Amino acid sequence: MELFDVYSLFDLTPVRALGCKVWDDKGQEYLDLYGGHAVISVGHSHPHYVEVLSDQLRKIGFYSNSVVNPLQQELARRLGEVSGYTDYSLFLDNSGAESNENALKLASFHTGKDAVIAFRKSFHGRTSGAVAVTDNPKIVSPFNAVHKVTFCDLEDSWAVEKRLMKGDVAAVIIEGIQGCGGINIPSDEFLRTLDDLCHKYGAVLVLDEVQSGYGRTGRFFAHQWAGIRPGIITMGKGIANGFPCGGILISPEFKAVKGMLGTTFGGNYLAMAGALAVLDIIFSERLVNNALTVGSYLLSSIPASDRIKEVRGRGLMIGIEFNEDVAPIRKKLLYEKHIFTGVAGSNMIRLLAPLCLSMDEARYFVDTLKEIL
Ligand SMILES: Cc1ncc(COP(=O)(O)O)c(C=O)c1O
Repeated sequence: MELFDVYSLFDLTPVRALGCKVWDDKGQEYLDLYGGHAVISVGHSHPHYVEVLSDQLRKIGFYSNSVVNPLQQELARRLGEVSGYTDYSLFLDNSGAESNENALKLASFHTGKDAVIAFRKSFHGRTSGAVAVTDNPKIVSPFNAVHKVTFCDLEDSWAVEKRLMKGDVAAVIIEGIQGCGGINIPSDEFLRTLDDLCHKYGAVLVLDEVQSGYGRTGRFFAHQWAGIRPGIITMGKGIANGFPCGGILISPEFKAVKGMLGTTFGGNYLAMAGALAVLDIIFSERLVNNALTVGSYLLSSIPASDRIKEVRGRGLMIGIEFNEDVAPIRKKLLYEKHIFTGVAGSNMIRLLAPLCLSMDEARYFVDTLKEIL
């Protein structure tokens, strides 16, 4: 049997990793500014993370959601404290797409409505509802295209309000910062207007913090820069540093009904151990602060060049938009300079480094970029 060939691969096989470093099967060291696509939050193979997960595996690896799992309760309590959402509740699942799927479903149950407003250049995942609110026709199959979704431009609050006026909108879904769409940051004012509009028209504001959350932008969630409290916040990626895990934070106005949401693997012991270890490390190593400090350095130090159109981002979620196709630059960074980076579209290099990136590592990248430009 062969693998179903849907990924474009780099010809490279990482076999070991530590912190922001990765080694391939030939012993070559790389600097990881991609974090396995924003997943590695506290650094690869952090000793505390490894110890907590291994220890959990020796005790009990899995049981279903039909029993009391104190690790889930502890995660809910600590996540509430660290994020400032102590009065919200937590539903645990397995991925970013599943979190968005659950958020949209819950918004629809809660309001009794069925339409959703999403934004141009959005990415919310690949399951049925999540891909329907993703603005990329290439990945939306006819089966997924049946949902009632209206796409508006970021910052166009009048278009949002006009659509809300029809009265059938259950949710407005927006990323804290658009990642795959090219590091587009909604203004604080726009987020506040969306929040007001959702309250006015009885819709739920769903903040997709799958990529922008968990400390990446220098606040626990990116939307906290705007001071709003959305109805539902969705999480994934960095929550358990690579052990599959996702979840949604749900405002107190939602009523839980037995059986309305569910999952086999969500909230399992290993994912919970990983997620608790991540919070330990984020807290003890002050990684949210570090993301802001090192990210601000990168944002202000990436060299000006006539090949670069704009550098934008917050904390360690950074896009370097070029005036040209970045594929050759990215290849050079990877194969000659041994630095992993991400992309967004054809003209942007996207940096999604682990939150423990050091100043020295950041400087090394800046110097290397200067050299190759
Ligand atoms: C903003 C955002 N939402 C949702 C997802 C989907 O997450 P997953 O691939 O874990 O389903 C992603 C993945 O890149 C994302 O960036």
